Amino acid sequence: MKVNWLKFSALAALVNCALAKQPNILFIITDDQDGHMGSVEHMPLLKKHLIDKGTSFENHFCTIAICCPSRVNLWTGRAAHNTNVTDVGPPYGGYPKIVKEGINDDYLPVWMQAAGYNTYYTGKLWNAHTINNYNQPFVKGYNGSDFLLDPFTYDYWHARMSRNGQTPKDYSGQYSPDVVADKAYGFLEEAIAGDAPFFVTVAPIAPHSNIVAHPLTGLLNELEVLAPGAVNKFAIPEYAPRHAHLFKDYKIPRTEDFNPEEASGASWIAQLPKLNDTMIEYNDEFQRARLRALQSVDEMIERLVHLLDSKGVLEDTYVIFTTDNGFHASQHRMHPGKECGYDTDIHIPLVIRGPGLAAGDKRNIVTSHTDMAPTLLSIAGASRDDFDGLAIPLVSDKKSAQIAARGEHVNVEFWGIGLPEGKFGIVQPDGGLSYPNNTYKALRLVSKDYSLFYSVWCTGEREFYDVRRDPGQMHNFFADPKLAKDYTLAGRSWQQLIYRLDALLVVLKTCKGNTCVKPWESHHEDGSVAILTEALNPKFDNYYLKYPKVGFSSCELGYIKSAEGNQDHISHAGVSWMTDVEAPVQRGQEPFQYRGSWSDWV
Ligand SMILES: *[C@@H]1O[C@H](CO)[C@@H](O)[C@H](O)[C@H]1NC(C)=O
Ligand SMILES: *[C@@H]1O[C@H](CO)[C@@H](O)[C@H](O)[C@H]1NC(C)=O
Ligand SMILES: *[C@@H]1O[C@H](CO)[C@@H](O)[C@H](O)[C@H]1NC(C)=O
Ligand SMILES: *[C@@H]1O[C@H](CO)[C@@H](O)[C@H](O)[C@H]1NC(C)=O
Repeated sequence: MKVNWLKFSALAALVNCALAKQPNILFIITDDQDGHMGSVEHMPLLKKHLIDKGTSFENHFCTIAICCPSRVNLWTGRAAHNTNVTDVGPPYGGYPKIVKEGINDDYLPVWMQAAGYNTYYTGKLWNAHTINNYNQPFVKGYNGSDFLLDPFTYDYWHARMSRNGQTPKDYSGQYSPDVVADKAYGFLEEAIAGDAPFFVTVAPIAPHSNIVAHPLTGLLNELEVLAPGAVNKFAIPEYAPRHAHLFKDYKIPRTEDFNPEEASGASWIAQLPKLNDTMIEYNDEFQRARLRALQSVDEMIERLVHLLDSKGVLEDTYVIFTTDNGFHASQHRMHPGKECGYDTDIHIPLVIRGPGLAAGDKRNIVTSHTDMAPTLLSIAGASRDDFDGLAIPLVSDKKSAQIAARGEHVNVEFWGIGLPEGKFGIVQPDGGLSYPNNTYKALRLVSKDYSLFYSVWCTGEREFYDVRRDPGQMHNFFADPKLAKDYTLAGRSWQQLIYRLDALLVVLKTCKGNTCVKPWESHHEDGSVAILTEALNPKFDNYYLKYPKVGFSSCELGYIKSAEGNQDHISHAGVSWMTDVEAPVQRGQEPFQYRGSWSDWV
């Protein structure tokens, strides 16, 4: 076993000592699974084998609510603004962009192999990874692979897959999640029989919408699917006939954010008309179908756990369950879809069973997909210094648990369009096929004392929700002055709070490495401030008041730096916080012009 002992972290050394070998990893990732419509509660075998036997991370988030950028974030441990893979297809995302950015040569499976692991993957890896470009170049990092390929990736009954780089094979007539489950079983058998620790990833498409590939147009990615005249649509997902009888009475929870009387949110969301009864019934059926599709995944989980158990390796294996991003259907009047910064789209399941993790436990530490690659690599006993996240403490190691407990922020970002799925979502009143102006920066803060969401849109709009009081994120303080009037947090006014949140977002939107983990240190170099309430100290008021604010000069479809206003946090080495300082003006930086209603508030 190849192990770089120098790189052993204390945490991994502890795990490895206890086990005298590197633990195995079985990673299961679904596609677009919601955390907020009860999908996890409808997977009894997930509950039996992982939730009841492992630990649920209750404050887990993705940082960009769309498949491909989120998976790049997950498999690199780097924020989307650092990978610059921000979309599902060219020019801003998809497999060609991933290759161009050097990610195919330098990401988790490659590092896991270097740490001595045998690696396997089956299911969907990337978008715009196609029957034409699967060998240009081949995917790196896997000892065994069997990838779903575009344009058939989301076609539940016409999958095409390439095994170990061979010519894609047509699986028409077979149910894709079941095909992937069988392949996963085979790879897991092979992995267990090997003489090295293994890292096996299974990525079925359930419960993603069904997209029937058009054999004539050969549509290759989701953007082309939207081209005028395209026959492809994001349709109700298909499920295996054996699950057709399930969930007949299920309805999407009628929470406060469900098709509300008043429009909510910002940008295109704030302009949505109410869904009518036909659409609501359709969305309920849409979600029923998603739950049925997930039953194949649920059955697979039991089969794979049984296999690990029967071969005597279950106790040496971390079994991890998550999804790439969340999903909404009817909340905020939206048609089915993702791409939003609300909890429906970013707050997602993460369950881990394995060495050091308590059975049936629930942990509240704030974690995100940026932390997954550091976590997996630390299981392997290795580490890197270019991660934008932090390994999640898996064993009860007090020190790392304390460090993780200090982190309360999640950096959320998005570039591009909003994409309504389902048959009512496709045609907009203006004839367009998608919602423009869906580029925003956001911040999610969660601690035992508060739960907050702050966003800045490319349109100049802003949102603030006190998520503890307003879990549906329905009452935007920027849209209703009354909400802010008497609001206090840690004894400070809402305005003072917003200055801090904005200054934190300035750091996070371009952060790299440790700055992403400890963003307050960019404002307080002496390390005296690590959390929001410490930054709220009145002695910092003038600094935060004058700090350049987050803003955009236009709405772009990708990460175009010049459109994103203030780029870097101001260096203020030598500034003493004990006096009421003037924030230094950044040379060459035009002062940011507020748009929207900001000026009414300051
Ligand atoms: C898996 O691939 C790595 C990297 O190519 C190689 O070092 C290792 O020997 C392979 N394992 C097996 C079982 O072939
Ligand atoms: C709801 O709107 C859709 C699309 O315009 C329409 O087809 C349907 O008949 C409407 N249903 C009701 C109950 O008005
Ligand atoms: C998009 O936002 C811009 C402001 O950046 C605005 O002028 C434009 O009207 C918006 N477009 C739509 C379709 O809402
Ligand atoms: C991100 O990639 C796009 C497309 O290649 C490019 O136009 C843009 O300049 C890149 N952004 C940054 C910040 O490098």
